[in-house]
Amino acid sequence: MGIGYGYGKVILFNEHFVVYGIPAIASSIDKETIAEVRVYDGNKDVIHDGRDAVPGYKREKYRQQVESIKRIKNAMNIDENLDIWLHGSLKAASGVGASAASCAAIARAISDEFGLDYSDEEINKVAYEGEKAYHGNPSGIDNSCATFGGLIWFERDKEVEKISISKPVEIVMGNTGVVANTKKAVDGVLERKNIYKEKYEDIFKKAERLAYDARGAIEKENWKEVGLLMNRNHGLLQEIEVSSKDLDFLVELARDNGAYGAKMTGGGLGGYMVALTPGKELQNRVAKAIEKEGFEVLLTAIGNRS
Ligand code: MEV
Repeated sequence: MGIGYGYGKVILFNEHFVVYGIPAIASSIDKETIAEVRVYDGNKDVIHDGRDAVPGYKREKYRQQVESIKRIKNAMNIDENLDIWLHGSLKAASGVGASAASCAAIARAISDEFGLDYSDEEINKVAYEGEKAYHGNPSGIDNSCATFGGLIWFERDKEVEKISISKPVEIVMGNTGVVANTKKAVDGVLERKNIYKEKYEDIFKKAERLAYDARGAIEKENWKEVGLLMNRNHGLLQEIEVSSKDLDFLVELARDNGAYGAKMTGGGLGGYMVALTPGKELQNRVAKAIEKEGFEVLLTAIGNRS
Protein backbone atom coordinates (compact mmCIF):
# COMPACT_ATOMS: atom_id res chain seq x y z
CA MET A 1 0.00 0.00 0.00
CA GLY A 2 1.41 3.40 -1.01
CA ILE A 3 0.54 6.55 0.90
CA GLY A 4 0.77 10.24 0.04
CA TYR A 5 -0.46 13.69 1.13
CA GLY A 6 -1.35 17.05 -0.41
CA TYR A 7 -2.03 20.33 1.41
CA GLY A 8 -5.09 22.54 1.13
CA LYS A 9 -4.55 26.19 0.20
CA VAL A 10 -5.83 29.72 0.44
CA ILE A 11 -5.21 32.31 -2.27
CA LEU A 12 -4.59 35.70 -0.66
CA PHE A 13 -4.08 37.72 -3.84
CA ASN A 14 -4.91 37.45 -7.52
CA GLU A 15 -6.72 34.22 -8.26
CA HIS A 16 -7.91 34.36 -11.88
CA PHE A 17 -5.40 37.11 -12.76
CA VAL A 18 -2.70 34.50 -12.14
CA VAL A 19 -4.00 32.43 -15.08
CA TYR A 20 -2.74 35.26 -17.34
CA GLY A 21 0.72 35.55 -15.80
CA ILE A 22 -0.04 38.18 -13.13
CA PRO A 23 1.75 37.34 -9.85
CA ALA A 24 -0.32 35.86 -7.04
CA ILE A 25 0.22 35.11 -3.35
CA ALA A 26 -1.10 31.98 -1.65
CA SER A 27 -0.48 29.83 1.38
CA SER A 28 -0.99 26.22 2.22
CA ILE A 29 -3.21 25.63 5.24
CA ASP A 30 -2.90 23.07 8.00
CA LYS A 31 -5.46 20.76 6.44
CA GLU A 32 -4.54 18.00 4.04
CA THR A 33 -5.78 15.15 1.91
CA ILE A 34 -4.26 11.70 2.36
CA ALA A 35 -4.33 9.12 -0.44
CA GLU A 36 -3.67 5.41 -0.12
CA VAL A 37 -3.13 3.37 -3.24
CA ARG A 38 -2.87 -0.33 -3.93
CA VAL A 39 -2.55 -2.29 -7.17
CA TYR A 40 -5.88 -3.96 -7.84
CA ASP A 41 -6.57 -6.92 -10.11
CA GLY A 42 -10.08 -5.81 -11.16
CA ASN A 43 -10.71 -4.31 -14.60
CA LYS A 44 -10.78 -0.63 -13.62
CA ASP A 45 -9.69 1.79 -10.92
CA VAL A 46 -11.86 1.90 -7.80
CA ILE A 47 -12.09 5.17 -5.85
CA HIS A 48 -13.13 5.08 -2.19
CA ASP A 49 -13.62 8.76 -1.44
CA GLY A 50 -13.86 9.02 2.34
CA ARG A 51 -13.24 12.79 2.51
CA ASP A 52 -15.68 14.92 4.44
CA ALA A 53 -17.40 16.94 1.71
CA VAL A 54 -19.83 19.76 0.99
CA PRO A 55 -23.12 18.11 -0.08
CA GLY A 56 -23.10 17.50 -3.82
CA TYR A 57 -19.35 18.09 -4.23
CA LYS A 58 -18.36 14.48 -4.87
CA ARG A 59 -21.21 13.85 -7.29
CA GLU A 60 -20.49 17.04 -9.20
CA LYS A 61 -16.76 16.37 -9.47
CA TYR A 62 -16.86 12.59 -10.04
CA ARG A 63 -16.26 12.63 -13.80
CA GLN A 64 -13.44 15.15 -13.41
CA GLN A 65 -11.96 12.99 -10.65
CA VAL A 66 -11.95 9.88 -12.87
CA GLU A 67 -10.38 11.88 -15.72
CA SER A 68 -7.84 13.38 -13.32
CA ILE A 69 -6.70 9.97 -12.08
CA LYS A 70 -6.35 8.81 -15.68
CA ARG A 71 -4.13 11.81 -16.40
CA ILE A 72 -2.04 11.24 -13.27
CA LYS A 73 -1.48 7.58 -14.19
CA ASN A 74 -0.58 8.51 -17.77
CA ALA A 75 1.92 11.08 -16.57
CA MET A 76 3.50 8.43 -14.31
CA ASN A 77 3.31 5.60 -16.91
CA ILE A 78 1.12 3.41 -14.72
CA ASP A 79 -1.00 0.80 -16.55
CA GLU A 80 -2.15 -1.25 -13.56
CA ASN A 81 -5.63 -0.75 -12.10
CA LEU A 82 -5.66 0.83 -8.68
CA ASP A 83 -7.68 0.85 -5.52
CA ILE A 84 -7.55 4.45 -4.27
CA TRP A 85 -8.68 5.66 -0.84
CA LEU A 86 -9.00 9.37 -0.04
CA HIS A 87 -9.39 10.84 3.42
CA GLY A 88 -7.75 13.47 5.66
CA SER A 89 -8.59 16.73 7.42
CA LEU A 90 -9.22 18.86 4.30
CA LYS A 91 -12.88 19.13 3.39
CA ALA A 92 -13.74 18.39 -0.22
CA ALA A 93 -15.13 21.83 -1.11
CA SER A 94 -14.59 24.62 -3.63
CA GLY A 95 -11.95 27.26 -2.87
CA VAL A 96 -9.59 25.35 -0.57
CA GLY A 97 -7.59 23.52 -3.22
CA ALA A 98 -9.28 20.19 -2.61
CA SER A 99 -8.75 18.94 -6.16
CA ALA A 100 -5.06 19.90 -6.21
CA ALA A 101 -4.49 18.39 -2.75
CA SER A 102 -6.00 15.12 -3.93
CA CYS A 103 -3.86 15.16 -7.10
CA ALA A 104 -0.64 15.67 -5.13
CA ALA A 105 -1.69 13.03 -2.59
CA ILE A 106 -2.53 10.44 -5.26
CA ALA A 107 0.70 11.15 -7.18
CA ARG A 108 2.72 10.69 -3.98
CA ALA A 109 0.85 7.51 -3.06
CA ILE A 110 1.46 6.02 -6.53
CA SER A 111 5.13 6.98 -6.34
CA ASP A 112 5.28 5.23 -2.97
CA GLU A 113 3.38 2.11 -4.12
CA PHE A 114 5.58 1.63 -7.20
CA GLY A 115 8.85 2.68 -5.54
CA LEU A 116 9.33 5.54 -8.02
CA ASP A 117 10.85 7.93 -5.51
CA TYR A 118 9.53 11.09 -7.22
CA SER A 119 10.94 14.42 -6.04
CA ASP A 120 8.55 17.22 -4.98
CA GLU A 121 9.17 18.89 -8.36
CA GLU A 122 8.11 15.71 -10.17
CA ILE A 123 5.04 15.31 -7.95
CA ASN A 124 4.11 18.92 -8.69
CA LYS A 125 4.29 18.32 -12.46
CA VAL A 126 2.10 15.22 -12.19
CA ALA A 127 -0.39 17.02 -9.91
CA TYR A 128 -0.57 19.81 -12.51
CA GLU A 129 -1.53 17.24 -15.17
CA GLY A 130 -4.23 15.91 -12.82
CA GLU A 131 -5.53 19.43 -12.16
CA LYS A 132 -6.20 19.95 -15.86
CA ALA A 133 -9.21 17.64 -15.55
CA TYR A 134 -10.76 20.02 -13.01
CA HIS A 135 -9.65 23.40 -14.37
CA GLY A 136 -8.96 23.08 -18.07
CA ASN A 137 -6.21 25.70 -18.00
CA PRO A 138 -4.80 25.76 -14.45
CA SER A 139 -2.13 28.32 -13.61
CA GLY A 140 -0.38 25.79 -11.38
CA ILE A 141 -0.83 27.78 -8.16
CA ASP A 142 -3.05 25.20 -6.43
CA ASN A 143 -0.84 22.18 -7.12
CA SER A 144 2.24 24.19 -6.07
CA CYS A 145 0.65 24.94 -2.68
CA ALA A 146 -0.58 21.35 -2.38
CA THR A 147 2.87 19.95 -3.12
CA PHE A 148 5.35 22.36 -1.53
CA GLY A 149 3.33 24.03 1.23
CA GLY A 150 4.23 27.39 2.79
CA LEU A 151 3.45 30.98 1.88
CA ILE A 152 4.29 31.47 -1.78
CA TRP A 153 4.75 34.09 -4.48
CA PHE A 154 3.56 32.44 -7.66
CA GLU A 155 4.00 33.41 -11.30
CA ARG A 156 2.88 31.10 -14.04
CA ASP A 157 5.72 29.04 -15.58
CA LYS A 158 8.27 30.46 -13.15
CA GLU A 159 9.89 28.89 -10.14
CA VAL A 160 7.83 29.17 -6.96
CA GLU A 161 9.27 31.65 -4.42
CA LYS A 162 8.68 31.17 -0.69
CA ILE A 163 7.83 34.24 1.37
CA SER A 164 8.96 33.94 4.95
CA ILE A 165 7.19 35.49 7.93
CA SER A 166 8.17 35.27 11.60
CA LYS A 167 5.07 33.34 12.70
CA PRO A 168 1.81 32.05 11.23
CA VAL A 169 -1.07 34.55 11.11
CA GLU A 170 -4.65 33.54 11.86
CA ILE A 171 -7.32 33.57 9.19
CA VAL A 172 -10.95 32.54 9.02
CA MET A 173 -12.29 30.89 5.91
CA GLY A 174 -16.07 31.09 5.50
CA ASN A 175 -17.78 28.48 3.39
CA THR A 176 -20.78 29.51 1.26
CA GLY A 177 -21.54 25.79 0.90
CA VAL A 178 -21.96 26.31 -2.85
CA VAL A 179 -20.11 23.83 -5.05
CA ALA A 180 -18.52 25.92 -7.79
CA ASN A 181 -17.13 24.97 -11.17
CA THR A 182 -13.66 26.51 -11.48
CA LYS A 183 -13.48 25.85 -15.21
CA LYS A 184 -16.71 27.74 -15.74
CA ALA A 185 -15.41 30.66 -13.69
CA VAL A 186 -12.09 30.73 -15.57
CA ASP A 187 -13.83 30.46 -18.97
CA GLY A 188 -16.17 33.29 -18.02
CA VAL A 189 -13.27 35.63 -17.29
CA LEU A 190 -11.68 34.83 -20.66
CA GLU A 191 -14.94 35.50 -22.46
CA ARG A 192 -15.50 38.88 -20.80
CA LYS A 193 -11.82 39.82 -21.14
CA ASN A 194 -12.20 39.44 -24.91
CA ILE A 195 -15.35 41.55 -24.99
CA TYR A 196 -14.39 44.35 -22.58
CA LYS A 197 -10.73 44.60 -23.59
CA GLU A 198 -9.87 48.06 -22.26
CA LYS A 199 -11.75 47.71 -19.01
CA TYR A 200 -10.09 44.37 -18.29
CA GLU A 201 -6.63 45.65 -19.23
CA ASP A 202 -7.03 48.37 -16.66
CA ILE A 203 -8.21 45.94 -13.95
CA PHE A 204 -5.36 43.53 -14.72
CA LYS A 205 -2.81 46.35 -14.40
CA LYS A 206 -4.23 47.23 -10.98
CA ALA A 207 -4.05 43.57 -9.93
CA GLU A 208 -0.39 43.39 -10.95
CA ARG A 209 0.56 46.49 -8.95
CA LEU A 210 -1.41 45.21 -6.00
CA ALA A 211 0.55 41.94 -5.94
CA TYR A 212 3.86 43.79 -5.48
CA ASP A 213 2.38 46.07 -2.80
CA ALA A 214 0.97 43.03 -1.02
CA ARG A 215 4.29 41.22 -1.07
CA GLY A 216 5.99 44.27 0.44
CA ALA A 217 3.36 44.56 3.17
CA ILE A 218 3.56 40.83 4.00
CA GLU A 219 7.35 40.95 4.19
CA LYS A 220 7.06 43.89 6.59
CA GLU A 221 4.36 41.96 8.46
CA ASN A 222 2.16 45.03 8.22
CA TRP A 223 -1.09 43.09 8.55
CA LYS A 224 -3.35 46.17 8.57
CA GLU A 225 -1.98 47.09 5.16
CA VAL A 226 -2.26 43.49 3.93
CA GLY A 227 -5.93 43.51 4.97
CA LEU A 228 -6.63 46.75 3.08
CA LEU A 229 -4.99 45.31 -0.01
CA MET A 230 -7.10 42.15 0.31
CA ASN A 231 -10.19 44.35 0.33
CA ARG A 232 -9.00 46.04 -2.85
CA ASN A 233 -8.29 42.68 -4.41
CA HIS A 234 -11.84 41.59 -3.64
CA GLY A 235 -13.07 44.71 -5.45
CA LEU A 236 -11.11 43.75 -8.56
CA LEU A 237 -12.46 40.19 -8.39
CA GLN A 238 -15.99 41.62 -8.16
CA GLU A 239 -15.26 43.70 -11.25
CA ILE A 240 -14.31 40.62 -13.26
CA GLU A 241 -17.54 39.01 -11.96
CA VAL A 242 -16.23 35.96 -10.15
CA SER A 243 -17.64 36.80 -6.72
CA SER A 244 -21.18 35.93 -5.63
CA LYS A 245 -23.89 37.34 -3.36
CA ASP A 246 -23.01 34.90 -0.57
CA LEU A 247 -19.29 35.61 -0.88
CA ASP A 248 -19.88 39.38 -0.79
CA PHE A 249 -22.15 38.98 2.22
CA LEU A 250 -19.55 36.99 4.19
CA VAL A 251 -16.77 39.39 3.18
CA GLU A 252 -18.79 42.37 4.49
CA LEU A 253 -19.72 40.49 7.64
CA ALA A 254 -16.10 39.67 8.40
CA ARG A 255 -15.02 43.28 7.88
CA ASP A 256 -17.88 44.55 10.07
CA ASN A 257 -16.64 42.25 12.83
CA GLY A 258 -13.11 43.60 12.79
CA ALA A 259 -11.26 41.51 10.20
CA TYR A 260 -8.26 43.46 8.87
CA GLY A 261 -9.42 42.55 5.38
CA ALA A 262 -11.54 39.97 3.58
CA LYS A 263 -12.03 38.66 0.07
CA MET A 264 -13.29 35.70 -1.88
CA THR A 265 -10.67 33.03 -2.43
CA GLY A 266 -10.10 30.50 -5.21
CA GLY A 267 -12.29 30.13 -8.27
CA GLY A 268 -15.24 32.03 -6.77
CA LEU A 269 -18.94 31.84 -7.77
CA GLY A 270 -19.31 29.99 -4.45
CA GLY A 271 -16.82 28.12 -2.33
CA TYR A 272 -14.85 30.00 0.34
CA MET A 273 -13.95 33.55 1.36
CA VAL A 274 -10.99 34.43 3.57
CA ALA A 275 -10.72 36.98 6.38
CA LEU A 276 -7.39 38.13 7.81
CA THR A 277 -7.78 37.98 11.60
CA PRO A 278 -4.43 38.19 13.44
CA GLY A 279 -4.76 36.85 16.99
CA LYS A 280 -7.03 34.14 18.36
CA GLU A 281 -9.52 36.61 19.83
CA LEU A 282 -10.25 38.36 16.55
CA GLN A 283 -10.27 35.02 14.74
CA ASN A 284 -12.93 33.67 17.11
CA ARG A 285 -15.03 36.83 16.91
CA VAL A 286 -15.16 36.77 13.11
CA ALA A 287 -15.74 32.99 13.04
CA LYS A 288 -18.67 33.29 15.47
CA ALA A 289 -20.28 36.07 13.43
CA ILE A 290 -20.12 33.91 10.29
CA GLU A 291 -21.42 30.82 12.09
CA LYS A 292 -24.29 32.83 13.55
CA GLU A 293 -25.48 33.46 10.00
CA GLY A 294 -25.56 29.70 9.39
CA PHE A 295 -22.30 29.33 7.45
CA GLU A 296 -19.52 26.91 8.25
CA VAL A 297 -16.03 28.18 9.05
CA LEU A 298 -12.50 26.89 8.89
CA LEU A 299 -10.08 28.39 11.41
CA THR A 300 -6.50 28.18 10.21
CA ALA A 301 -3.42 30.30 9.52
CA ILE A 302 -1.17 31.44 6.69
CA GLY A 303 2.56 30.85 6.72
CA ASN A 304 2.39 27.48 8.48
CA ARG A 305 5.13 25.85 6.48
CA SER A 306 7.15 28.90 5.37
C1 MEV B 1 -8.36 28.40 -8.42
O1 MEV B 1 -8.03 27.98 -7.11
C2 MEV B 1 -7.47 29.53 -8.84
C3 MEV B 1 -7.73 30.09 -10.23
O2 MEV B 1 -6.88 31.22 -10.38
C4 MEV B 1 -7.44 29.10 -11.32
C5 MEV B 1 -5.97 28.78 -11.47
O3 MEV B 1 -5.12 29.58 -11.10
O4 MEV B 1 -5.66 27.72 -12.03
C6 MEV B 1 -9.16 30.58 -10.39
